[in-house]
Amino acid sequence: MKDESKRPGVKNKVFDRAYFISGYYSDTLNRPSRKYAKTVDFFRKHNVIKVLDLGCGVGRHTVLLARDGFEVYGFDYSPSAVKETKKLLRNSSLDAKILVYNMDKRFPYKDSFFDAVFASRTIYQTKIDRIKKRLSEVRRVLKDGGYLYWEGPTYKATYYSAKGEKRIEIEPGTTLSIGGVFADTYYHRFRSKEELRTLLTGFKILRFDFRGRTYKLLCQKTAEVE
Ligand SMILES: C[S@@+](CC[C@H](N)C(=O)[O-])C[C@H]1O[C@@H](n2cnc3c(N)ncnc32)[C@H](O)[C@@H]1O
Repeated sequence: MKDESKRPGVKNKVFDRAYFISGYYSDTLNRPSRKYAKTVDFFRKHNVIKVLDLGCGVGRHTVLLARDGFEVYGFDYSPSAVKETKKLLRNSSLDAKILVYNMDKRFPYKDSFFDAVFASRTIYQTKIDRIKKRLSEVRRVLKDGGYLYWEGPTYKATYYSAKGEKRIEIEPGTTLSIGGVFADTYYHRFRSKEELRTLLTGFKILRFDFRGRTYKLLCQKTAEVE
């Protein structure tokens, strides 16, 4: 597992900016996802041991997952965020294997390595074809019967248009920011449950909350892609 912070050319400054210059996320990042406790209860009941905190950011869930007794792995392409996650873990005397890594590449784990993937507010900051590739990597690194928790914005989410950000739609549901904190980033907002269902080929949906600004879903890898 190569730590990409040691290689030149990892382009990841956008989220660094958002986290550390603008304070953009400070209100949400101090508390976990509202579904964290419920998801962890579910993981425990289903004998989950190894969990990937995908796009772990500044580690708000990484630390909780480690404290809750899981064997935790995580990666994010923002070096500053990963540094923060590692600091949080150290300060709490907890252990997790965290890397700087780009999820558009083949994930740095063997097939069927994880019992569960926890993907909070990540995967969708790109165009739809890449979202599909990322989900197929999630599927590859999950065991048959493994779980994916994934939350993100519905089309009703408006928060990212704050702070002077201007966006243009470059494909249905996907916008490109042309200014502000997230300049030059893509962002996909899901317009319907159906859109998500279509993307999640090879997963059985166990719970699906698609109300208001955020969808929260829990699904299970099926053995065969249907
Ligand atoms: C909205 S934040 C969520 C962070 C964390 N999961 C949480 O819930 O606090 C999205 C995260 O995805 C990461 N990210 C975006 N694109 C990525 C990519 N291509 N590879 C790895 N991480 C990426 C960002 O750096 C950022 O930390």
